[in-house]
Amino acid sequence: MLARKPKLHVDEAVLKTCTGPMPKHVGIIMDGNGRWAKGRGMPRIKGHHEGANAVRRTVESCRYLEIPHLTLYAFSSQNWGRPQDEVTGLMTLFDVYIKKERQRLIDNGVAMRMIGDRSRLSPGLLRAVEGLEDATAHNSDLILQVAVSYGGREEILSAVKAIAKEISDGTLRAEDIDEHTVSDHLYTRNIPDPELIIRTSGEFRVSNFLLWQAAYAEFFVTDTMWPDFNEVHLRDALNSFGSRERRFGLTSAQLSETSEEE
Ligand code: FPP
Repeated sequence: MLARKPKLHVDEAVLKTCTGPMPKHVGIIMDGNGRWAKGRGMPRIKGHHEGANAVRRTVESCRYLEIPHLTLYAFSSQNWGRPQDEVTGLMTLFDVYIKKERQRLIDNGVAMRMIGDRSRLSPGLLRAVEGLEDATAHNSDLILQVAVSYGGREEILSAVKAIAKEISDGTLRAEDIDEHTVSDHLYTRNIPDPELIIRTSGEFRVSNFLLWQAAYAEFFVTDTMWPDFNEVHLRDALNSFGSRERRFGLTSAQLSETSEEE
């Protein structure tokens, strides 16, 4: 079967200036929607709506660049504590996004998966999320993980509980636990760790995002507020990543010895 050509509305001229090498997984802490709106005298929810357009641009840009995995931090476990109207507005926005973007995601070969605590979503939103996951499950060009009701500590805690249960059930021995055991009990099982994490709005914080998985991630912080994030900012982050030497705890000399041997 011929692969369908994706319909991507992206600034190709800018994306063509990405120099590589590309990360296999990019995570983004989308921050600054509220400040973007406040700076324009608008309600915070308007910033989130504009942020949804930046989500579409970014998803399509990653698809264009053939980056296989993208994780977007849309709503943290702690965000449930925001004013009720903002929480409701965000949940409605996720629902609208799912309905509006469904066909485009399918046509563009994107598989959407939610990571986070599903038990806190309304039954209607959960149905919409699971419907989109099912409809895109066969896609593999870009795996888009959307973190909703997500917290890195909460995720690790739930992995620890699941592992403890397997030990008490006798299906796992404590001495056999290794890093893979933990990774395999996270929402992100089977997904490579993020190599690049981008945060917008100039804040230098991890904010409970992919705590286990980010162990060797490169960070890129831009002052740009999320609703303004576009191909230029993504290109700059990717080119910065491409220019870094990733040492994984080794020395530069050791790394060049390894690459000479290859
Ligand atoms: C952080 O900005 C942003 C959020 C808590 C929500 C992110 C949601 C979107 C980008 C909407 C669309 C998402 C999807 C997946 C359709 P903030 O509100 O904390 O900004 P502030 O720090 O300026 O107040």
